[in-house]
Amino acid sequence: MSGNCSQLMVRVLSGSRCSMSTVVWSFVGFLLMLHLYSLFSHKDATSGEIQLQVTNHPSFRELVEVEEENIQIPPPRGKRSPRAAKRRPKRTTTLIDEFLDENSQLRHVFFPDMKTAIDPMKDNGNDSFYYYPGRIWLDTEGAPIQAHGGGILYDERSRTYYWYGEYKDGPTYHAHKKAAARVDIIGAGCYSSKDLWTWKNEGIVLAAEETNETHDLYKLNVLERPKVIYNENTGKYVMWMHIDDCNYTKAGVGVAISDYPTGPFDYLYSMRPHGFESRDMTLFKDDDGVAYLIYSSEDNSELHIGPLTPDYLDVSNVVRRILIGEHREAPALFKHQGTYYMITSGCTGWAPNEALVHAAESVMGPWETMGNPCIGGNKIFRQTTFFSQSTYVIPLPGLPGSYIFMADRWNPADLRDSRYVWLPLIVGGPADRPLEYNFGFPLWSRVSIYWHKKWKLPSRWTG
Ligand SMILES: *[C@@H]1O[C@H](CO)[C@@H](O)[C@H](O)[C@H]1NC(C)=O
Ligand SMILES: *[C@@H]1O[C@H](CO)[C@@H](O)[C@H](O)[C@H]1NC(C)=O
Ligand SMILES: *[C@@H]1O[C@H](CO)[C@@H](O)[C@H](O)[C@H]1NC(C)=O
Repeated sequence: MSGNCSQLMVRVLSGSRCSMSTVVWSFVGFLLMLHLYSLFSHKDATSGEIQLQVTNHPSFRELVEVEEENIQIPPPRGKRSPRAAKRRPKRTTTLIDEFLDENSQLRHVFFPDMKTAIDPMKDNGNDSFYYYPGRIWLDTEGAPIQAHGGGILYDERSRTYYWYGEYKDGPTYHAHKKAAARVDIIGAGCYSSKDLWTWKNEGIVLAAEETNETHDLYKLNVLERPKVIYNENTGKYVMWMHIDDCNYTKAGVGVAISDYPTGPFDYLYSMRPHGFESRDMTLFKDDDGVAYLIYSSEDNSELHIGPLTPDYLDVSNVVRRILIGEHREAPALFKHQGTYYMITSGCTGWAPNEALVHAAESVMGPWETMGNPCIGGNKIFRQTTFFSQSTYVIPLPGLPGSYIFMADRWNPADLRDSRYVWLPLIVGGPADRPLEYNFGFPLWSRVSIYWHKKWKLPSRWTG
């Protein structure tokens, strides 16, 4: 802000043909902008106060507690002679190396075993409703939840949450030497819950095609990030998903529909939206009922966003390229007090990387990058999105400004054993990166995702 203003003054004052009245009027304009700015910062301060009042509630304070992680990296395995150690400086392993190493002594830190699984059906006493990011999470039948790269639909009619995701309960392998680790398509899984903690398996609502090799859902292809929204006009539940071949060269989106949230979904077709490549994707349904497809395109170097047709079965011909050259994927959108926010990850395959949050006044952009939302843990935790990748942000009715950040902690050695990282996401307080807009407009709030080993939603969060 001050930089911009002084620049303006310098430009005005140094103009050789600049008359006295120009200087005066410029100064008046400057004062006006200053006044406007203070008005807006005042508005921001008030909303910040409101936010504070809410977050002062004791159960809220727990959500925003900054929890540190102190993990000691074990010394490299194998004995070395002191001379050898002298000759070649010891390669320092990072926590990311340890995370990616199937034989790491720290495996249990990232992928705790079945003994610590979250089991909603057991008598949990005071542990009920606690989320433990990274632990195995069991459904009501005692099986690990299979809903990776997932998203949540809140169904108003049944007042039930549905969690859709990739059902990956098969062996992990490489299709060929250079291919990424994969599991065959089994289908899109669906789980239902009233409390966002106890999940009942509703089965595979869109199944792989076992024999027809030309079908998009043929098991050797790829189905990722299924998302479902409800269309009020047609009464249909509409699923969009990333459809690809094992080499990720098809780069399309698939569409399926159902009369019920629990399926079965009828697969309609796949396409390259607007004629572009589409890999990681998500859907966002706005308050006015208009739904948008957001997808990574142009070799994942940028995102594209465009509204769907009113029946949600196709894209319309309107599309914007956003975050061009920023190489972001795994988008998750949400809206808070009229502002649109999006969390994305970098593109490093199954390896974790830094999340960024972006904001926009209009869903079609322009979108501006605000920085890393992660708070707590330790530096490497924050640089790796707590060793996970964004997939969805769940709004919590009754707790304005509070959301659940949903992410996947991928296990490339055994993808079916990938874990879920759910953490509180809070919108409030000033953003930490000065925005590029002149005179400080618009003033967006900070988006913060707080690390917790264990946390739960405040009681009575609904309503
Ligand atoms: C639950 O918490 C209460 C109050 O802190 C305590 O008295 C009780 O022993 C706890 N129960 C269990 C099963 O941990
Ligand atoms: C195989 O799938 C393709 C594409 O969906 C379809 O056109 C074809 O009819 C299917 N073949 C059989 C035998 O079902
Ligand atoms: C994937 O790539 C490999 C190696 O380049 C090739 O042999 C295979 O035919 C490709 N598969 C598809 C489905 O494109």
